[in-house]
Amino acid sequence: MGTVILGIESSCDDTSAAVVRDRLLLSNVIAGQDVHQKYGGVVPELASRAHQQNIVPVVDQALKEAGISRNEIDAVAFTRGPGLLGSLLVGTSFAKGFTAALGIPMIEVNHLQAHILVHFIQSGASDAVSPRFPFLCLLVSGGHTQLVLVRDYDVMEIMGRTIDDAAGEAFDKCAKLLDLPYPGGPHVDRLAREGDALRFTFSKPRLDGFDYSFSGLKTSFLYFLRDHLKEDPEFVEKNRADLAASLQHTIIDILLNKLRKAMRKSGINQVALAGGVSANSGLRATLAKEAEKRGWDLFIPPISFTTDNAAMIAITGYYRYLKGEFSRDDIGPLARMYF
Ligand code: KG4
Ligand code: ZN
Repeated sequence: MGTVILGIESSCDDTSAAVVRDRLLLSNVIAGQDVHQKYGGVVPELASRAHQQNIVPVVDQALKEAGISRNEIDAVAFTRGPGLLGSLLVGTSFAKGFTAALGIPMIEVNHLQAHILVHFIQSGASDAVSPRFPFLCLLVSGGHTQLVLVRDYDVMEIMGRTIDDAAGEAFDKCAKLLDLPYPGGPHVDRLAREGDALRFTFSKPRLDGFDYSFSGLKTSFLYFLRDHLKEDPEFVEKNRADLAASLQHTIIDILLNKLRKAMRKSGINQVALAGGVSANSGLRATLAKEAEKRGWDLFIPPISFTTDNAAMIAITGYYRYLKGEFSRDDIGPLARMYF
């Protein structure tokens, strides 16, 4: 029969529900929130309200697509954090009510661990083999950028992290300066394919160890545009593709620099990519070349598992279920959560 887990994700601006039977993904429904676009970023109050509207229909749809009835569910896994408190509260409250009504356990999940565990989902989209422990994961999202040494499903050590902005934030903030819609990452990706990545250069951080920094790049990009716009008000319009390509090239360079160092230091030769920015076609291609050159085993998630989704929450919940790691029913969400 297997173990059926319903996963709920509501940490930021995507409401998602998914069902797994053991490691096999049966459904993964995601409702995005267009309401934030006109504000150029996620508005927490609006996100929370949209989650409240979306959660019931999204869960219904996920169960329907999976062909699972409520009484077949063994446990509900939900994102406890990190994320926006008002958003997390919706998923947490839903999980509490749903599990109380059915008399089944609920399982808290760390959103960042879940991004990494997408590599263990079995689905039509990912028949690929999973990494073996230990492996290194470059976790790049809108809120986090981390190099994680993954020893087991629930034993992870952060080797390096950003000391300021995340890589996704660098994409999004610089994209805004290029007058691209929010979130800008996918737009930069698309434009970069037509641009010259070596045309412009921007500053890169000089930071010891494995930590990242992206705020200097953002400032350098801002000043660069400001100086050129003084001379030519149409500078951005005329050079948008080259600017996007050069920006993306710089971000990838920064990411790979530390990754190379961490791989050398750890002596590990398996590397996995995870998080929203791992959808970036330039990053995927550059990492594939690098892995080939250096003999690394590379694990790149299917696009559908890169940005926020509940499939990753359900699979993480599954592994916690196997260990009997259930949450108390008075649990609350956490804006900051560590592993
Ligand atoms: O993991 P995610 O969905 O949310 C967080 O947990 O933060 O990541 C969202 C981030 C955004 O910054 C978005 O611009 C970025 O992932 N992103 C991309 C691409 N697709 C999404 N960045 C660059 N290229 C892409 N194709
Ligand atoms: Zn995320």
